[in-house]
Amino acid sequence: MRRHLALLTAFAVLALGIVASLLIARAWTQWQHQMPPAWLIAVLAGVLAMVMGWRLLPTWWRGVLLVAPLVMWGGLQIHPGWFLAAAVLLLLVQFNAIRHRVPLYRSGPAVIGVLDGEIRQRRIRHLADVGCGDGHVIAALARRFPEVQFTGFETAPLLFVIARWRCRDLPNCRVRFRDFWGESWNDKDAIFAFLSPEPMLRLWRKCQRELPSEGGLYSLAFEVPGVEFGAVIPAGRFDLYFYPRLPRQKRARGLE
Ligand SMILES: C[S@@+](CC[C@H](N)C(=O)[O-])C[C@H]1O[C@@H](n2cnc3c(N)ncnc32)[C@H](O)[C@@H]1O
Repeated sequence: MRRHLALLTAFAVLALGIVASLLIARAWTQWQHQMPPAWLIAVLAGVLAMVMGWRLLPTWWRGVLLVAPLVMWGGLQIHPGWFLAAAVLLLLVQFNAIRHRVPLYRSGPAVIGVLDGEIRQRRIRHLADVGCGDGHVIAALARRFPEVQFTGFETAPLLFVIARWRCRDLPNCRVRFRDFWGESWNDKDAIFAFLSPEPMLRLWRKCQRELPSEGGLYSLAFEVPGVEFGAVIPAGRFDLYFYPRLPRQKRARGLE
């Protein structure tokens, strides 16, 4: 409710700022017989809206109110084709935000460092990044471990192309334009995922069914609901959860 109130106040203040700046511009035109440039009217509207909202709204609104009229005016100058191009670009990058409710956000260098340690410690032979984004994780690791195999799955078209390009000179790094749910993982001994809370249980079950006995799942930021992790490793902004493949009896309970 409070958020809606803030939004309404912001719109009201913005509208007032725009009307006030237009009135000032009209008075100026009558006085000087020359209209001020449109961008100046937009800047004035932003300043007025910001001042009016100064005490009424949270601090972060000030910047928004200041630039909003200028952005609106800029929007009117831009050819509609650019909006279409921006929408297409967004779709090519964030394709899975719509399809699987998993958008692109990249994990940081700390994650690569932690996976580096895990590959050494657990002697991982084949790691798959399920939803590899632009491929920066597998490309960095493939460069460090030429004897280990890396596979990335990605279905956002532009990200796939970038990931493929990143791995172009790395024979141990493959990027596949495939939905990872439809692929078999039984030739991989580690799965790295940075997805969302929603598919975690399904992901864990697939790992339990398909990974070899020494295999395991590494999930950045998201835990598997109702399943105890084997280890949790700090990896920068988020923790990395490790879920080993369980012995047959325990596994059967989790897969029920
Ligand atoms: C949060 S990003 C993580 C990118 C990369 N793994 C990293 O750590 O930087 C998740 C990626 O998974 C991709 N993705 C989601 N569901 C997918 C699916 N079923 N098959 C292939 N890619 C998928 C999305 O397009 C997105 O690029």
